[in-house]
Amino acid sequence: MAPELVVALDVPALEEARRLVALLRPTVRWFKVGMELFTAAGPAAVEAVRAEGGAVLLDLKLHDIPHTVAGAVRRAARLEAEMLTLHLAGGAAMIRAAVDAARDAGTGLRLLGITRLTSEPATSSEFTWSVAETAVGVADLGVDGVVASVHEAAAVRAACPPGFLIVAPGIRPAGAGADDQARVATPAEAAHAGCDFIVVGRPIIRAFDPLQAAVAIMREMAALAAPV
Ligand code: C5P
Repeated sequence: MAPELVVALDVPALEEARRLVALLRPTVRWFKVGMELFTAAGPAAVEAVRAEGGAVLLDLKLHDIPHTVAGAVRRAARLEAEMLTLHLAGGAAMIRAAVDAARDAGTGLRLLGITRLTSEPATSSEFTWSVAETAVGVADLGVDGVVASVHEAAAVRAACPPGFLIVAPGIRPAGAGADDQARVATPAEAAHAGCDFIVVGRPIIRAFDPLQAAVAIMREMAALAAPV
């Protein structure tokens, strides 16, 4: 199956986010609300996507003491975000607290662990292996998936249990600039690597025609999805 497209609503104001969601729905179902928009608009940003029938990946990259992270997970579950990110560097106690809070909330909130940011270059041949190893460890702790680059996706897929989610940012259609991303890949490469979701921001939201840019990315993935 082709990966699902998540459009990153990396904009500074709620009105701009609403405009993008209205333009991209119903072609695009998934939207990412991250630090910039959530800092500006708070829960209203999640509600704006849900009001249009969209699904939310709340990308807050939580990283704090277990008690604080558990509290934030409970609030995210109450907002009915479908997925929430946390930094795996927070350690096992923090991860366990987050997993327990998500389960107790009972809303089906899925937790995604940030392995290594896609703006970080791969510095050694052990890099891919270490991301996959981290993914195995957090799958055991009950995390639902990881955010990783396409370059680590195959290793994560091979190492982790079936159903473990792989969400890949750092996606750039052929010919697009990398911006501040380092471990980039094309939508076709993401499909071929077996990612479940790709996250795309600037190549869509800064396009002259964001809907056309999103459709082109979805077509490219549908044509090259890995055989199941
Ligand atoms: O504009 P661009 O397509 O680079 O946006 C990628 C989005 O994915 C950004 O919102 C960024 O915060 C997010 N992200 C990332 N790398 C991660 C986790 C999230 O680029 N490891």
